[in-house]
Amino acid sequence: MNYRHSRHAGNIADVFKHYVLTLALAALHRKDTPFCAIDTHAGAGRYRLDKGGEFEHGIGRLWPRRAAWPDLAGYLDAVAAVNPPGALKYYPGSPLIIQKFLRPQDRALFFELNPEECARLARELARAPRAAVQEVNGWNALRGALPPRENRGLVLIDPPYEQPDDFEALAGALAVGARQWRNGGYLAWYPVKQRRPIERLHTAVRALGLEAAAVEFLTLPAGVEQRLNGSGYVLVNPPWKLLDTLRTTLPPLAEFLAGPAGRPTVRVLDLCGP
Ligand SMILES: C[S@@+](CC[C@H](N)C(=O)[O-])C[C@H]1O[C@@H](n2cnc3c(N)ncnc32)[C@H](O)[C@@H]1O
Repeated sequence: MNYRHSRHAGNIADVFKHYVLTLALAALHRKDTPFCAIDTHAGAGRYRLDKGGEFEHGIGRLWPRRAAWPDLAGYLDAVAAVNPPGALKYYPGSPLIIQKFLRPQDRALFFELNPEECARLARELARAPRAAVQEVNGWNALRGALPPRENRGLVLIDPPYEQPDDFEALAGALAVGARQWRNGGYLAWYPVKQRRPIERLHTAVRALGLEAAAVEFLTLPAGVEQRLNGSGYVLVNPPWKLLDTLRTTLPPLAEFLAGPAGRPTVRVLDLCGP
């Protein structure tokens, strides 16, 4: 368990991951009834952005041009919320983004296995009464958490992919979700390197029999299998209109972040229809 998200915080994959997360959270605000958000691999919550970091290709490029991206306002507001006015010194991890979207009636559960990361997250959320932080194995803890009593909400599954079986664990977690909480929304992130584990994941998701799609966001040419060419999400029970929004907003974002030397590609794949 050597993974530390701080090296990657705010990179291109994070921009994609957290932009989609903010859209899914905003969709939960369409109803007043309470929701529960569960983050199985939560990380430390906030990361300092040091010169030379991967963020320079991600949020670092977007931030000075943020006024030109009104569609990303919810995401950019979440970044602004952890920073001094106008500055970009820190990057919010998924827990602080989720926390920003909680209303008085909502709640969140954050699972993190690494003791230091978990302690940092607990400090970040010490004064957040509706957020519970637990130092546990997220794969196991998810089983015990589903279905949440609110019976409305989402699960973010964002493992580090340090273990060769993380793709299988992800498929297993979605199968648990399909059994225990069929109407939950699931956002399961994956790196786009080799295609074979991704195809196996998609096949497993089709077999769940729930509405599902995959969205992939690449800024480098696919086919260099040892490199992070992009990343994707499996979205189970996606919110209404989310896929339409992603089809229009992600291509210009991929083009901008890829820059002249990159190769922007956005794919929205219907895995299992409504
Ligand atoms: C990609 S990072 C999470 C980033 C975070 N979701 C975000 O978007 O800001 C993955 C995290 O999972 C943690 N982790 C690794 N294995 C875990 C497990 N079995 N259960 C819970 N957390 C785990 C790592 O310590 C790391 O902090």
